[in-house]
Amino acid sequence: MNYEQAEKKLAEWNQSHVLQYFDELTEAQQADLLAQIEETDFSALNCIHETGSPRGVFSPLAAMELDEIAARKDELYNAGIKTIQEGKTAALLLAGGMGTRLGSSHPKGMYDIGLTKPRYIFECLIHNLLEIVEASGTWIRLFIMTSEKNHDETVAFFEEKDYFGYRKDRVVFFKQSMAPCCDFDGKLYMEEKGRISTSPNGNAGWYSSMLRAGLGAILEQEGIEWINVFAVDNVLQRICDPCFIGATVLADVGVGAKVVRKAAPDEKVGVMCLEDGKPSIVEYYELSQEMMDAKDAKGDPAYNFGVILNYLFRTAELDKVTDDKLALHVVKKKIPYIDENGEPVSPQEPNGLKFEQLVLDMIHQLSSCLPYEVVREHEFAPIKNLTGIDSVESARELLKQNGVEL
Ligand code: UTP
Repeated sequence: MNYEQAEKKLAEWNQSHVLQYFDELTEAQQADLLAQIEETDFSALNCIHETGSPRGVFSPLAAMELDEIAARKDELYNAGIKTIQEGKTAALLLAGGMGTRLGSSHPKGMYDIGLTKPRYIFECLIHNLLEIVEASGTWIRLFIMTSEKNHDETVAFFEEKDYFGYRKDRVVFFKQSMAPCCDFDGKLYMEEKGRISTSPNGNAGWYSSMLRAGLGAILEQEGIEWINVFAVDNVLQRICDPCFIGATVLADVGVGAKVVRKAAPDEKVGVMCLEDGKPSIVEYYELSQEMMDAKDAKGDPAYNFGVILNYLFRTAELDKVTDDKLALHVVKKKIPYIDENGEPVSPQEPNGLKFEQLVLDMIHQLSSCLPYEVVREHEFAPIKNLTGIDSVESARELLKQNGVEL
C-alpha cells in the first residue's frame, strides 16, 4: 500500500491522524506503518457502541460427574490413551494474552512461581503434559499461540530452557491476529509515532490464526482429530488427560469442556449450559435467581458447573467457527499511547477500548458439548493476580497441596 492509498483508507475511517508523524519516520518505519494500515481491519471500530447481542433461552446441560467418571475409569482411560497413541490428539496453549493483571511486562508463562528454586508457569504446564507423553509413549503435537507482542520473547525462553525437556520438533509456535485499540470515541491510539496501538484479538482467535499461519496442513498430515486448548495461567491443569479425551470421544460430541463444581450458587464463574438448545456459557451476572434455584434430577443445582478454559475441540467441527461468525466483544482497558506532543502516556485507569473474540462464542457454534467434572483442588489454580483470589499466592498453596515442590 502506498501513502495515497493509506491516506484514503484512513480518511474513510476518520483516522487521518495516524499519519501525523509520517515525515519524522525512517524509511523502514514508514514502510512498516503503511503495511500495518493495509493489514489492519478497522471494521471493529463499528462496534464501539455495541452492547452485545441479546442472549437466547438458557436451559441446563448435564455434566459427566465424578462418580460416573470413577465408575468408568478404565474404559475412559483406555479410549483416551488409544486416541493419543493414534496421534489424533494435539495440545494448544493459549499464550497470546497480555497478562496485564500480573503487572509483569514479560509473557505470563515466564513468570517464576518457585520459592526455593525457579519454577516457571511454562515449566509447570510442560511438566504436566510430559506425564501423558510418558504414560502413552507418544510425543503429542504441541501448538503454542503467542502474539506479536510476546512471540520473540516466548520462543527465546523455550530455546533457552531447552523446551523444559519437550521434544522441540513436536512444538510449533504461531502468532495470533491483532485488533486495533481506540479511545472511547473510536479514535485509534498510536503506541509509537509509526505504529497503531493493537492488542491480541481474544482467546477465540486461535483457530483462524492457526489457519492463517498455514498450520491446517499439520492437522491434516498428522490426522489430528482433537485439539486440547488450554490457558497459560492454570498451573495445575491436566493437559491431554486420557480420561477426559476418552469421555469426549466416546460421547461423540463437538467439544468436551472441563468444569468444576461451583463453590456457591452465585460464584463468579461462567457456567456450561444450553442456549436455544446449543452449547453455551452463561456468565455469573446473567444467572437469574430462578436459574440459581433450579435443580436437576438428583436435586442438585441445575447450573452447577463452571468452566476452567480447558476444552477438547473436534477439528472436523471447527470450520463452523471462522472469524466472521464470532462476535466482537468490546472491553475497556488501559491502553498506553503517545499524546499529541508525541510523549508516551501510561494511563492508570481504563482509557479506551479493545476488541476480543471469546471462546464461549466458539462453543456456541458447535453441535454438542460434554461438560466433564474435575476436582477443583486438583486441577484449578489460575494465576490472574499477584495476591488474593486466583493469584500467585493461592496457586502456590494449591501446588504444594498437590505435592509439587516449589
Ligand atoms: P485472560 O482472559 O485471563 O487474559 O486469558 P490475560 O491476557 O491472560 O490477562 P489479563 O486480563 O490481561 O490480566 C485467558 C487465557 O487466554 C489467553 C491468555 O494468554 C490466557 O491463557 N489469551 C487471552 C490469548 O491467548 N489471547 C488473547 O487475546 C487473550
